[in-house]
Amino acid sequence: MGEKKVVLEVKGLKTSFFTDDGEVPAVDNVDFQIRQGEVLGIVGESGCGKSVTSLSIMGLVPSPPGKITGGEILFQDKDLTKLKEKQMRQVRGNDVAMIFQEPMTSLNPLFTIGDQLREAVKIHKRDWSKKQIQERAVEMMGLVGLPRPEALMKNYPHQLSGGMRQRVMIAMALLCDPKVLIADEPTTALDVTIQAQILKLIKGLNDRLDMAVLMITHDLGVVAETCERVIVMYAGKVVEEGPVRTIFKNPQHPYTKGLLASVPDMRFKKDRLYSIPGNVPKPGTIKTGCKFAARCEFAFDRCLVENPELYQTEEAHQTRCFLYDEKEVKPDERTFVKS
Ligand SMILES: Nc1ncnc2c1ncn2[C@@H]1O[C@H](COP(=O)(O)OP(=O)(O)O)[C@@H](O)[C@H]1O
Ligand SMILES: [Mg+2]
Repeated sequence: MGEKKVVLEVKGLKTSFFTDDGEVPAVDNVDFQIRQGEVLGIVGESGCGKSVTSLSIMGLVPSPPGKITGGEILFQDKDLTKLKEKQMRQVRGNDVAMIFQEPMTSLNPLFTIGDQLREAVKIHKRDWSKKQIQERAVEMMGLVGLPRPEALMKNYPHQLSGGMRQRVMIAMALLCDPKVLIADEPTTALDVTIQAQILKLIKGLNDRLDMAVLMITHDLGVVAETCERVIVMYAGKVVEEGPVRTIFKNPQHPYTKGLLASVPDMRFKKDRLYSIPGNVPKPGTIKTGCKFAARCEFAFDRCLVENPELYQTEEAHQTRCFLYDEKEVKPDERTFVKS
């Protein structure tokens, strides 16, 4: 099996917000690639910069106060960060699509599902007849597993369940045959059984349409279910990257270990779940050293003054932590910050 081609490459991406407190670097030098047909996960707690990363790719960072200040987003030999808004709209309509956490905010409550789907079809197929548009809308509803499309189309968004609304949003995102689908916490607002169905739907569409998916989530359980490869983000930086199986078997960054320990395990009924002590720092507040050091039980003196790079630790596995620096001093020579 040969490696599939890279469809989207993010290189040294920096996105900041310029506020009264100064520059807030929400995404700080992020690199990754997605290959055709691959499901790549981005995982991290709330505030780590996941949504700002996806909005940067879509050209939807609210500006002001936000701005891409560095790096490249390469899609089919184009650098998306250099495109004008009009060209970017083309990309959003035809190449890269996105679904959000709360489908209700993306659907217009005043129009029926049918109106909104047909309107979305019309944007892509201006010369189609009413009949063709209707048929395409019905077809898309079938594709995302919505029952009795004709009847359902007469409904307004509030008459559908959260899971059904998310299916409608997925149908709309797929209308343009995107090469990349960005799903930003697509199931966070849904209850667990519906969540599993929507994830299965996205994974199934990924298989059938050979479309790359960027699955953004705070939940490693979602990653385990859908992704082949995962990027762990902390405070605007990639702190670990690798195949999902490798990362679950051999998590290396203390942050990843903490995230894994906080995944509910169905086999053991724990009444209280582990959570990593402390909070994600506001971007820009930690000026020197590893951004995770303040919460890290392994932190030693060097972690407070130097920024770790991403160390290659295994094949396709990288970790941004001095514990994996081969040139690092031996553990018994370190001065630990916490005892
Ligand atoms: N509109 C905004 N104005 C100012 N700062 C913002 C804005 N949106 C996001 N940020 C900053 O970017 C950081 C990352 O946000 P986000 O990407 O939404 O995190 P998440 O990983 O939860 O999706 C936040 O902690 C916040 O400090
Ligand atoms: Mg988010």
